Amino acid sequence: MQKFVIKGGKPLRGSVRIGGAKNAAVAILPAVLLSDEPCVIENLPEISDVTSILKALTSIGAEVKMLSKSSVSIDPRPAKSFTVTKDITKGMRASSYMLGALLSRCNRARVSPPGGCDFGVRPIDQHIKGFEALGAKVIIDNGMVYARAPKLMGASIYLDVVSVGATINIMLAATKAAGLTVIENAAKEPHIVDLANFLNSMGANIMGAGTGVIKIRGVSHLHGSNYSIIPDQIEAGTYMVAAAATGGDVTIENVTPKHLESIVAKLIEIGADVEEFDESIRVSMKSRPKKCNVKTMPHPGFPTDMQPQIAVLLALADGTSIVTEGVWDNRFRYVEQLSLMGADIQVDGKSAIITGVNHLNGAPVKAVDLRAGAAMIIAGLAATGETTVEEIDHIDRGYENLAEKFKSLGAHIERVDDFSEYKVIKNA
Ligand code: EPZ
Repeated sequence: MQKFVIKGGKPLRGSVRIGGAKNAAVAILPAVLLSDEPCVIENLPEISDVTSILKALTSIGAEVKMLSKSSVSIDPRPAKSFTVTKDITKGMRASSYMLGALLSRCNRARVSPPGGCDFGVRPIDQHIKGFEALGAKVIIDNGMVYARAPKLMGASIYLDVVSVGATINIMLAATKAAGLTVIENAAKEPHIVDLANFLNSMGANIMGAGTGVIKIRGVSHLHGSNYSIIPDQIEAGTYMVAAAATGGDVTIENVTPKHLESIVAKLIEIGADVEEFDESIRVSMKSRPKKCNVKTMPHPGFPTDMQPQIAVLLALADGTSIVTEGVWDNRFRYVEQLSLMGADIQVDGKSAIITGVNHLNGAPVKAVDLRAGAAMIIAGLAATGETTVEEIDHIDRGYENLAEKFKSLGAHIERVDDFSEYKVIKNA
């Protein structure tokens, strides 16, 4: 086990390059199974969730060849199995996409239920409703989800909740189904559009991705494609908030500014200076953050995956802010950790009332999930003294080269083995 050791209190300065989007990559990699030919996927983030999906593809027989750290060639033709077991899926939500992809490829799929971050109950009833509407029979038995359809037929599907995962899984299952599928109340996140663009680049016929109604006219074959994944909206947002929380000045490169609008809007309200360029964003903060209320919502609302990070900034603000979680039942488990650093936060149901403090104090804390872990890193960078962040395997699921990237901005952060004597960071 490893942990991060941070000596905080230093404003971040410089520029940092954002990698490919985790939540697009984990959908696009299984989508390769729909192709009749090999595909090359570029701009992959170097994160453990990508490694896990590649393992899942290898485990069913696909030929996976890394061409560089961020590009992979996948030949789906040798993939004969339709079963993905628990040792592969544990700890990762996106393994559920193997269901839609295998159902499309083999007309059947047997996948262990997905893991992933703990935000309370994480049902997959809308995924199952979609598969059933397309003609599949779905059974959950002996810890496995089993889906089978003699023939997938297009259908009209109204999602009862706006679900990223259900929208993606239905897109995967419907791309080669016979006839027209209409997904209503679909999710609109940038990774949904990226998946549609990838599938269309292989010859699929998908319209409306990025709106609430997605129409998919089934095609019988998909050809190979060479595709580059979009930049990661949440990784970018995390560095933007870190710049503001440390009173720094950082240019975040290789981003799509359109995907960052809700985050930019809140940072400006909080008092940051934000300059937008074609593919980069500069964030600087010269004064104490101002209080601000934030409510998370599906895209284009403020992303739930940025909620813990913005809460750290507001924990340092002048005044009291309210952060309301509009997507998940329980995404405030990090508050207890932040309180150990001196934050003043009361959680009341789906809202957190944050009374800003002058400074946070370094402390031993843990990453209770992926974005909570990112929030602890930001808190450690902004705090006075030393912070250790444990259980960082959560962070490794979604942030590539995190210590190196923050170090390039002047941060004092080291990844060290948890049980060895760690290096004392000097001059911090
Ligand atoms: C995706 O999770 C992301 N994961 C999450 O990001 C993100 O927090 C979430 O979307 C919301 O934006 C991936 O893309 C791999 P949902 P997902 O289905 O698809 C309810 C991160 O930090 N729901 O959109 O699992 C559900 O309980 C991760 O990168 C149902 O009721 O989320 C929740 O309240 C963590 N039934 C809401 O919908 C269902 O069948 C949204 O969930 C499915 C979902």
